[in-house]
Amino acid sequence: MERSALQCGGGLMKLLVTGAAGFIGSHLCEELIARGHEVVGVDCFTDYYSPAVKEANLVGLRKSPRFSLCRENLLSLNWTQWMEGIEGIYHLAAQAGVRASWGDSFAVYTENNVLATQRLLEACKGRSLRKVVCASSSSVYGDCEEIPMTERSPVKPISPYGVTKLACEHLCRLYWKNYAVPTVALRYFTVYGPRQRPDMGFHKFISALLSGGTLHVYGDGKQTRDFTFVSDAVSGTLLAFEKGKEGEVYNIGGGSRVSVKQVLILLEEMSGGSGRVVYEDTQKGDMKHTLADITKAHRAFGYEPRVTLAQGLEAEFTWLQKGGRC
Ligand SMILES: NC(=O)c1ccc[n+]([C@@H]2O[C@H](COP(=O)([O-])OP(=O)(O)OC[C@H]3O[C@@H](n4cnc5c(N)ncnc54)[C@H](O)[C@@H]3O)[C@@H](O)[C@H]2O)c1
Repeated sequence: MERSALQCGGGLMKLLVTGAAGFIGSHLCEELIARGHEVVGVDCFTDYYSPAVKEANLVGLRKSPRFSLCRENLLSLNWTQWMEGIEGIYHLAAQAGVRASWGDSFAVYTENNVLATQRLLEACKGRSLRKVVCASSSSVYGDCEEIPMTERSPVKPISPYGVTKLACEHLCRLYWKNYAVPTVALRYFTVYGPRQRPDMGFHKFISALLSGGTLHVYGDGKQTRDFTFVSDAVSGTLLAFEKGKEGEVYNIGGGSRVSVKQVLILLEEMSGGSGRVVYEDTQKGDMKHTLADITKAHRAFGYEPRVTLAQGLEAEFTWLQKGGRC
């Protein structure tokens, strides 16, 4: 176990970030460190994708004496020890990914998502915390008939993963209602950018284009997504910590949607060549369309996505071109 003994001061906070070695978590930690906070990152380096990739995500953070890492599973964490002096929490640890959540692996999803969140919320009871911001997902909506999806739209997940994220939202709300844990849940809509998880579409498409491999598209490519650049997701998360209303849930989207086919056209323009595309069966659990109505987050804490899809794709493309180094 590694831990810095640094004290925080000057109004800056000591914060706990779960899932710190992951895609969004590592970016969030970097921004918190850049703002002067002390960050305790917790991550157990699950093997959902290569732990070596997660080690690489932490290279920049390790240079900061205000960042410390706890390589523990939330399910077995000594909460009393690690919560000492913590003033706020960002809970991003989870078993991500829709397609892998069927079958036997559902047990891993219930443990790392539902049970881990419940353990964390139990540990928050009776503590003086500024906010506990939890990562939820657009997957809670399922194939929603209302587009754009508002926080009042029906939630009918169509994947086991979505079910676990919805359960986490319910846990957040009930620990707020019963124990005044100051939770806020954020429904992220398909986040992308440098360090995107290797199982995600853009990462796979760009890698295939760069290596001359085949681009595998699930479904007919007409499915649409609201893509959110990672710096926008991070800024929404920080704003929600500052001004999000306790017990509430907010959409964090990129503000527009495009089809997978449109993305492929943009990527081919970027790479200057065309890749071989193979269309495969639609995967169970994949939603047909997503688009976030972000009015609630905008009104509550001024959330506004700033990075266009072309800019964001360029950033991810360049990152992968450089071999995944930032
Ligand atoms: N990336 C997206 O597009 C997206 C969209 C919607 C929601 N989300 C949510 O945002 C969060 C971050 O997603 P990401 O894409 O960065 O995923 P990620 O897999 O890169 O990061 C999650 C991290 O959590 C860690 N972890 C998992 N279970 C743990 C446990 N029990 N104890 C300690 N650490 C554990 C993993 O090792 C991993 O590093 C997740 O909660 C995910 O469900 C992501």
